Amino acid sequence: MEKMISMVGGDGEFSYQRMGVIQGYTIKKLEPLLVEAIKHMSLPEHGPLHIADLGCSSGGNSISYVNIIVKCITERYTKPADESNGHVTTCLPEMLVFFSDLPTNDFNNLIQLLASKAENDGDSIGVNDVDVRRANYFSTMMGGSFYNRLLPKESMHFVISTWALNWMSQIPKTVTDPNSPHYNKGRSWILGGDPTIAQEFAQQSQLDLDNFLNCRAAEMAPGGILFLQFASRADSSNPENQCNPYFALGLDLENAWNDLIVDGVITTEIRDTFNFPAYFRSKEEVKSSIIKCGAFDIQCLQLWDDESLCPEDERMRMLQFPQSFAKFYSAWVRAAFGPVLEAHMGLQALNEFFIRHQRGIANHATSLLSDPKAQQEYKCFNLSFLVVVLKRKVH
Ligand SMILES: C[S@@+](CC[C@H](N)C(=O)[O-])C[C@H]1O[C@@H](n2cnc3c(N)ncnc32)[C@H](O)[C@@H]1O
Repeated sequence: MEKMISMVGGDGEFSYQRMGVIQGYTIKKLEPLLVEAIKHMSLPEHGPLHIADLGCSSGGNSISYVNIIVKCITERYTKPADESNGHVTTCLPEMLVFFSDLPTNDFNNLIQLLASKAENDGDSIGVNDVDVRRANYFSTMMGGSFYNRLLPKESMHFVISTWALNWMSQIPKTVTDPNSPHYNKGRSWILGGDPTIAQEFAQQSQLDLDNFLNCRAAEMAPGGILFLQFASRADSSNPENQCNPYFALGLDLENAWNDLIVDGVITTEIRDTFNFPAYFRSKEEVKSSIIKCGAFDIQCLQLWDDESLCPEDERMRMLQFPQSFAKFYSAWVRAAFGPVLEAHMGLQALNEFFIRHQRGIANHATSLLSDPKAQQEYKCFNLSFLVVVLKRKVH
């Protein structure tokens, strides 16, 4: 399954570099929490200081996060002791950043972004007006799943992962087996479906998070910070209640599947054997994994409930133009889910899928035009997410 997961590479119409601007709105929201987390990080006496972004993808969001991190760490070393949590050294270590994602990720795009920004050293290279300058660090790319070990023991001082841990390592076999009582017939995800099928996803997702935490526990230096942000759900008891029905993985996508079947482009079986490899954990599920792992102190575990990823006024402005809104929204969904869908149905059917997806959104948006109240309630960009800051315990 992990071979099929990746965002659309390059810088074209459906690329994550372009469409990841929506996920990039989170950078500004998280900046104060990053600054706070770095205040509590144990600084190594000698370099190199190691930073990693796990699930970096191919676009500029990752570079923006890393720039904030490097800038804050630099300040800790260079500010007077009383302003930097008592740290006395003035000798700034060299920093090495590992940009890591699955091997299918378009690392070339990221390398080119880094290189072109390096040429313009001193220019602002943040996205979404995040005011960061090209920070001074070495970088390397690393392909591998974060559900496995990626880095040497006790080597990492700051590790970040944003919008990535909601992807699963695999789909539970029981939900794709037509002979299983948990066969997910009639839909492509668990949202609003059979609670027992959602429970199968919950179990796999729990195993994944346990693996992730145990691997990071081995890799983090004592006092190092693990900063995680990922899509989450507010309803702790009902895993089938993953998010609002208008979010990217909700009704619009299921309708596009149905249209594809009705139009004879694919068989029902092709839809029924597909499942989006995503699961939005509750705060309680995450807390229980952290406690089970036992290697980290919790510095922050915050649920940002039903947060709009896109500024509200921008969304309302977009909705006044249903055709261009549908084009943008559908391209955003395709940037993230296009590759995993294409691996299952092929490129031709994928193109047909997104024609129907875009058309469905445009029709829906048009119907909202005459109803301002319904427009307000159309929460297509709303999602809950968790921010988790963990400090590696000193053994
Ligand atoms: C939505 S992108 C997030 C990119 C970036 N962190 C941001 O905030 O914009 C999610 C990334 O997680 C990666 N990913 C998913 N599962 C992964 C895994 N098991 N190991 C490493 N990366 C993974 C995907 O390939 C994708 O690039």
